Amino acid sequence: MRLVLLGCGVVGSSLVWLLRRDADLLARRLGEPLDLAAIVVRDPTRPRDPWVPMELLSDDIVGAITREDVDVVVEVMGSPTVALVALERALQAGKSVVTANKDVLADHLGVLEHLAEVASVDLLFEAAVAGGVPLIRALRTSLVGERLWSLQGIVNGTSNFVLTRMTEAGDDLESALEEARSRGFAEADPSRDLDGRDAAAKAAILASLAFERSVRATHVYTEGVTNVTPADIRFARSIGRVVKLVATARRVDEVDGEALSVEVFPAMVPQSHPLASVRDAANAILVEGHAVGELVFIGPGAGGLPTAAAVLADILEAAQNRRSGRRSLVVRRDEPRMLSPASIVGRFGISLLVRDAAGVLARVAEVFGDQGVSIAQVEQLGAGDGLAHLMLVTHEATRSSMDAVVNALAKIADVVGAIQRYRML
Ligand SMILES: NC(=O)c1ccc[n+]([C@@H]2O[C@H](COP(=O)([O-])OP(=O)(O)OC[C@H]3O[C@@H](n4cnc5c(N)ncnc54)[C@H](OP(=O)(O)O)[C@@H]3O)[C@@H](O)[C@H]2O)c1
Repeated sequence: MRLVLLGCGVVGSSLVWLLRRDADLLARRLGEPLDLAAIVVRDPTRPRDPWVPMELLSDDIVGAITREDVDVVVEVMGSPTVALVALERALQAGKSVVTANKDVLADHLGVLEHLAEVASVDLLFEAAVAGGVPLIRALRTSLVGERLWSLQGIVNGTSNFVLTRMTEAGDDLESALEEARSRGFAEADPSRDLDGRDAAAKAAILASLAFERSVRATHVYTEGVTNVTPADIRFARSIGRVVKLVATARRVDEVDGEALSVEVFPAMVPQSHPLASVRDAANAILVEGHAVGELVFIGPGAGGLPTAAAVLADILEAAQNRRSGRRSLVVRRDEPRMLSPASIVGRFGISLLVRDAAGVLARVAEVFGDQGVSIAQVEQLGAGDGLAHLMLVTHEATRSSMDAVVNALAKIADVVGAIQRYRML
């Protein structure tokens, strides 16, 4: 069985290492050797890890994926635009495809599945969500007969590492991010991790699999953790909670039928909740089904080796299927009917920095009252320089009324700086 590898960075190089180290074991399990025929990179002249066979490197994507002697195309490039074209070409050329590309899948899963169906080949993507955690395979196979109700989890390791540092070491967001970068848990530009877009892409993929719908990243209501302050972390602790970036996907019964709600938001999670103890760059996903009850998947959400191990499992599945002329089960996906995010009801926490002056708290509270939102708790922490942090926790309210509250608060002259909104999970 022959494969080509598109990309030889963090994941690709680890995969090459596993393919070389475990060549005999893999050949025994598969019944024939797994041969790497070509490796495509942006710059074939760049120095690589010592185990990477330099003679296989090229920058010719089309040449590699259309080779007659290749069975499986493995895409670990990132670069969504180039990757999408490469995946489409590979499927059209009748190759089975393995990809870790959450950004491509979050927007184009339906199209790629259709191409795989037409060509009667596999499209597998275990590594695209939660890296080394075998969640996608569980949703595709073990739970395919189950009627799932909800998924809830931590699917972005960078933000979880940053929030863990802020909670346990008392760092502010910038220094927590520096620590994450120095330990390889954050990229040079972590904006997609912190503003929730990375988690939204993963939530879209998970919702598509769990609910047989074509949920795309644009369907996901997304808020990030960019404005979380140490004061918010301290406040959360004082009420027995921790701050987490949470992704959720739920079926909701409406009077006129079933709808889906898929969201990413910063939450204050009770310390007794299973997600509260998920530390550093780990990922964890709670899956709830009608017959199976609650399942918890937890483990390394990223990293070269865990992700490469997930890619390798897909390669073996695709290779075995090709040998036996089978295909992995593909479920037909309809367009989703999404619940309007504005109608979501929950308890919210609003954190804001204000001038520490007489009457400010009353003006802030009045805004909540004007929108019919009832306040359950108010906490104030001095911030120095004549400023104070306020944290206001509401009783149940709709998100549309909270949007109105946040907009009105932003117009008060005594409110300085960004406003961060939390869900009280
Ligand atoms: N890193 C993780 O822990 C992790 C976890 C889960 C999923 N993923 C996904 O896995 C994929 C790869 O991630 P990574 O961290 O391994 O990325 P990376 O370290 O940046 O490596 C990307 C590789 O792809 C090559 N490449 C990029 N654009 C290309 C293009 N246009 N044409 C040819 N080659 C191109 C690069 O070539 P050069 O080496 O010449 O620059 C490099 O070898 C991404 O989709 C990512 O989201 C990663």
